[in-house]
Amino acid sequence: MSDGSAEQVLADVREEVVGCTRCELHRSANNGVPGEGNPDARIVIIGEAPGWHEDKQGKPFVGNSGKFLTELLETAGLKRDEVFITNVVKHRPPGNRDPLPDEIMACSVYLERQIAAIDPDVIVTLGRFSMAKYFPGEKISKIHGEAKEVGGRFVVPMYHPAAALHNGALRSTIEEDFQKLPRLLAERDKQRSIDREKTAQASQGTLF
Ligand code: URA
Repeated sequence: MSDGSAEQVLADVREEVVGCTRCELHRSANNGVPGEGNPDARIVIIGEAPGWHEDKQGKPFVGNSGKFLTELLETAGLKRDEVFITNVVKHRPPGNRDPLPDEIMACSVYLERQIAAIDPDVIVTLGRFSMAKYFPGEKISKIHGEAKEVGGRFVVPMYHPAAALHNGALRSTIEEDFQKLPRLLAERDKQRSIDREKTAQASQGTLF
């Protein structure tokens, strides 16, 4: 029975993704790739879709772009196991083609439940497809690295590590964008302590 904890919701989603037939992608894939990481993560990272390695292992970002993602997190002072990493679609599109709109739509229930359960302070979107969920019609070259407040948290679009890995200019851009993450977390902490202070002052006011 589900106890409603983030851990439980993530475990439920994991089980459902593994057996999911909501779109056709499960037919050609070897494994569902629900996502992995800390249920209490302050940062959720959303990529595009599992690739060859991810499909084999059932884990997100375990190939070359995954190794690069781990490095990017480390240069920002973050460990991979303190964040939660997932994708817009949870089964590999054949031949790594782009995910189709109806596949993204069919899979969005899982992503929504993961985000609601974890309730992160910051969402990082990697590449066009996860960016389009929050900023439809925008261009990544224009808005990468800019944090916007969406539904009470920061959403920061970034280039996909696979695009940045072998492109010197994009590589330094994505590194700089990742290095903005600690400041965003600190901003959230500051806002929380201001809110706490206000609540304390308001309750003092009602006492006297
Ligand atoms: N690219 C993605 O977008 N996601 C993965 O999990 C791996 C590569």
